[in-house]
Amino acid sequence: MDPTTFQLPPAMSTGAPSYDSLYMFIFWFSVVFTVLITGLTLLFVRKYKRQKGVKPTPTDDLTKLEIVWTVVPVIAIVFMFHGSWKVYIQNVTAAEGATEIRVRAKKWSWEFEYPGGARAPGEVYLEVNKPYKLILSSEDVIHSFFVPEFRVKRDAVPGQYSFVTFTPNVTGDAQVFCTEYCGTSHSNMLAKVHVVTHEELEKFKETLGKRPAGLSPEQWGKDLFAKNGCTACHGDNGEGRTGPKLAGLFDRGTEATTAGAVTVDENYIRESILRPNAKIVAGYANVQMPPFVLQDEQLDAVIAYIKTLK
Ligand code: CUA
Repeated sequence: MDPTTFQLPPAMSTGAPSYDSLYMFIFWFSVVFTVLITGLTLLFVRKYKRQKGVKPTPTDDLTKLEIVWTVVPVIAIVFMFHGSWKVYIQNVTAAEGATEIRVRAKKWSWEFEYPGGARAPGEVYLEVNKPYKLILSSEDVIHSFFVPEFRVKRDAVPGQYSFVTFTPNVTGDAQVFCTEYCGTSHSNMLAKVHVVTHEELEKFKETLGKRPAGLSPEQWGKDLFAKNGCTACHGDNGEGRTGPKLAGLFDRGTEATTAGAVTVDENYIRESILRPNAKIVAGYANVQMPPFVLQDEQLDAVIAYIKTLK
């Protein structure tokens, strides 16, 4: 797996080579002409500068030269337009039978929904050599879904759907970035794409949404806490950032909220995850936490983890 450009990581999709060759052509075309034109300009400035005792002779029209420097760039631009158009069409046309995955963006995490409705935050498993259509939306502000390995990038806009489509053709991990500035934790809005074989995907489906073998509920809760992006606002260890501090929450016993003093128990935490605006911690009323959809066991695990935060 060699990088096909020196600006992007090694390609992992069938559409990447045509994108890369177009990109490299336009890149080198620009480099060559920038150097050539700038170089000649500097050279002529020096060569034809005003000199004592030399009277400049006016230049005539050079019709042939003018035609050449008009027609040649037009041909080059038409060529680049044609190449770009082909790559654009390729990137907005989903292959027949493409598997549709819903991707929901919110401050500051990515959530993936598989066909059939199973949801998973922070990472998605795709089968190698199968076409995919990822349907994007946002629950709050504009985000942008960028996976350099697949050469796909598209905005996720509140109130409308957009999509990216590609066929991963190499197994391994690819990195999802958010490339639209969306607030304080924009740079932490990351996710992973795991491209795996058919067998590995089948095995993964069986464990989807279940506690991984070998993890305690608290450890699984910690994992879910990170993958759902809770760390972005509540801190890596619940120490609190733009969101309230969770460390020592159960020791405090009560918490002042917009709905009055609340006893800290499992029900309060559960409600705050599913319906964050029901009881907002005092001082955080202007921080919008999005609601999270978790299964019962996942909620239990996250609550178990929050209890361990001191
Ligand atoms: Cu989401 Cu930047």
